[in-house]
Amino acid sequence: MITFDKSISLEEYNGLRRLVDWYEVSERQFITSIPKSIFITVGRDDGKVISMARAVGDGGYHLLVVDVIVHPDYQGQGIGRQMITQLIDFVHNDYIEPGETTMVSLLSAKDKEPFYEKFGFFRRPNDERGSGMSMFYTQK
Ligand SMILES: CC(C)(COP(=O)(O)OP(=O)(O)OC[C@H]1O[C@@H](n2cnc3c(N)ncnc32)[C@H](O)[C@@H]1OP(=O)(O)O)[C@@H](O)C(=O)NCCC(=O)NCCS
Repeated sequence: MITFDKSISLEEYNGLRRLVDWYEVSERQFITSIPKSIFITVGRDDGKVISMARAVGDGGYHLLVVDVIVHPDYQGQGIGRQMITQLIDFVHNDYIEPGETTMVSLLSAKDKEPFYEKFGFFRRPNDERGSGMSMFYTQK
């Protein structure tokens, strides 16, 4: 049975990141960043980490969804949907109050846009808004 909790080790985190060819993080980055997550959910199958999603934010208006990963053996089984639904429930119940609006953003991996559109995210650029932009900065 798949269960969800909020804790993940550095080895588990980098293990998931390796699966999808993302940069691994240092222990310092892990210790600094993961506890600052405003939202985190970690999926486990009999204890083994099989998915995660988290969000970082300013506590008021902006929320950035990051690290959405489902182990390839478990993709297509509704686990990503469960995690994004948990995130939206968190936004509704814990991040904002009645009458408030928050901006929930993410940088979609290539061709994953249709997954996020199912939950109300829209693509950029569009007629009203420019592109999102990123850079990877490595200190040599
Ligand atoms: C993207 C990802 C998180 C989706 O998780 P998942 O558990 O496989 O998705 P689900 O099974 O919950 O799918 C939910 C819905 O989205 C759809 N969907 C999932 N991936 C899709 C894709 N790439 N294109 C179109 N639809 C997609 C499913 O068909 C399903 O539709 P339905 O509910 O109407 O039947 C997963 O494929 C993944 O981890 N990929 C590698 C890492 C990655 O790219 N992460 C995204 C970073 S931005």
